[in-house]
Amino acid sequence: MPLSLRKIACIGAGYVGGPTMAVIADRCPDIDVTVLDLNAERIAAWNSEDLPVYEPGLAEVVSRARGRNLRFVGQAEGAAYVAAADAVFISVNTPTKTEGEGAGKASDLRYVESCARFIAAHATGHTIVIEKSTMPVRAADCVKSILATARPGVTFDILSNPEFLAEGTAIRDLEQPDRVLIGGERPESIAALAEIYRRWVPAERILSTGLWSAELSKLVANAFLAQRVSSINSISALCEVTGADVEEVAAVVGADSRIGPKFLRASVGFGGSCFQKDLLSLIYISESYGLTEVAAYWQQVVDLNQWQKRRFADLIAAPIADGAGSLRGRRIAILGFAFKKDTNDVRETPAMDVCRRLLARGATLAVHDYRVTPESVRSELGAQGVEVAATPEAALAGADGVAVLTEWSAYATLDWARLAGMLKAGAVIHDGRNILDAGAVRRAGLILRSIGRGAQPNA
Ligand code: NAD
Ligand code: UGA
Repeated sequence: MPLSLRKIACIGAGYVGGPTMAVIADRCPDIDVTVLDLNAERIAAWNSEDLPVYEPGLAEVVSRARGRNLRFVGQAEGAAYVAAADAVFISVNTPTKTEGEGAGKASDLRYVESCARFIAAHATGHTIVIEKSTMPVRAADCVKSILATARPGVTFDILSNPEFLAEGTAIRDLEQPDRVLIGGERPESIAALAEIYRRWVPAERILSTGLWSAELSKLVANAFLAQRVSSINSISALCEVTGADVEEVAAVVGADSRIGPKFLRASVGFGGSCFQKDLLSLIYISESYGLTEVAAYWQQVVDLNQWQKRRFADLIAAPIADGAGSLRGRRIAILGFAFKKDTNDVRETPAMDVCRRLLARGATLAVHDYRVTPESVRSELGAQGVEVAATPEAALAGADGVAVLTEWSAYATLDWARLAGMLKAGAVIHDGRNILDAGAVRRAGLILRSIGRGAQPNA
């Protein structure tokens, strides 16, 4: 008889677990969905009107399903739901290891392992265990060996079902994915999970592969995306010195259907919790198989990104530093702190590296963001020399320099004619995302330096 998944549980109520399970529950009212997490505060927020994750459209999806077939519970209460589940997703964090073998590169699987132990302790009958977290290739072996410690008669099958959503567009990505990937060893388990996605995803977009290909494909997809950003960012520097315009170059290059136009926006650098971590994981895996050239190739994508962040901070500092290179007494307005627009997430945000470099040279920063809380800014940067501004205007008042670090749409329509008088004379505006209306900034008599754009008329 084909397997049918009627009760599912998900361990990890983060940026992936929460939205993914909310969309499954929304699209499959007959499936009972429980999300559990060790973090009681996060669970309380998922049960409130103030969700812990900001994503356009998420609140509506949650409000339709929560209390019907979607619940968020703490770990202790979650044990019974894991026991009753036909399938359990593991959607916990897999950060870069900070200690032990592979520190600084390898993925830290301790949270995944602890989920596997929890499942082994509580599951009953036959359970499909689904890796939703991004894992190193062959990590399923480690999950399998932990599950093998369960009581006699309790059986498991493992699937890898990595998530490709991007923050800020998570609901759209989940509702209309380019593809859903299911890797596994037993066709009946793959079919049972595919049956869930089939409710709203066309069959041809549900790809099935072996376990190892699924695990590796997720890392490779992120590596290729990050590589495009580093590629265009490397060209941004060349554009600045040659007088070319990176936006024009990207448009021309991207018009080739073999290359395509997406992910060619020059920026202050890529951020987010996954690109660097997944690149480092790929590098570590390559090294551990002795593939040093492969590792060095991907390392360069990381290195270029670090260089771009340093380079941008130094461009901001250059016109206002004193003879000794110090920024003491200089106030810099930072517009945007999230790692991209439409999210409140600051994990690995390029803004953090840029700000830290400016702070280290003695600058005072006035940081504005539309979604990031003052607590998040302060926990990344500390309080010394950092003011969190409630509005862009408050950040700009009295600034010696301005840096746009996140591409929030509202920054594109700032009224520079009105704001120009609030800045110190000679202040330079550095657009790290190329979103400002260059004509409007210049007409206001201000100096604009855009990433990847060569010398400009009033510069
Ligand atoms: P997150 O840190 O937002 O959430 C992880 C949650 O797991 C936390 O709330 C944490 O408390 C909980 N947790 C950890 N160990 C636990 C345990 N033993 N029991 C119960 N709860 C536990 O992480 P995230 O951003 O949702 O990422 C999760 C995974 O998905 C990672 O592997 C990541 O690489 C991958 N991923 C993330 C994104 C993204 O956009 N953030 C996209 C695709 C894939
Ligand atoms: C990325 C991938 O796009 C998702 O497919 C993947 O599931 C996810 O990582 C993950 O595994 O966590 P995310 O990091 O949320 O998603 O956001 P992206 O839109 O990919 O942006 C990443 C960073 O690259 C941001 O800092 C963004 O500003 C930057 N970026 C992106 C550019 O600088 N230029 C571009 O053209 C595109």
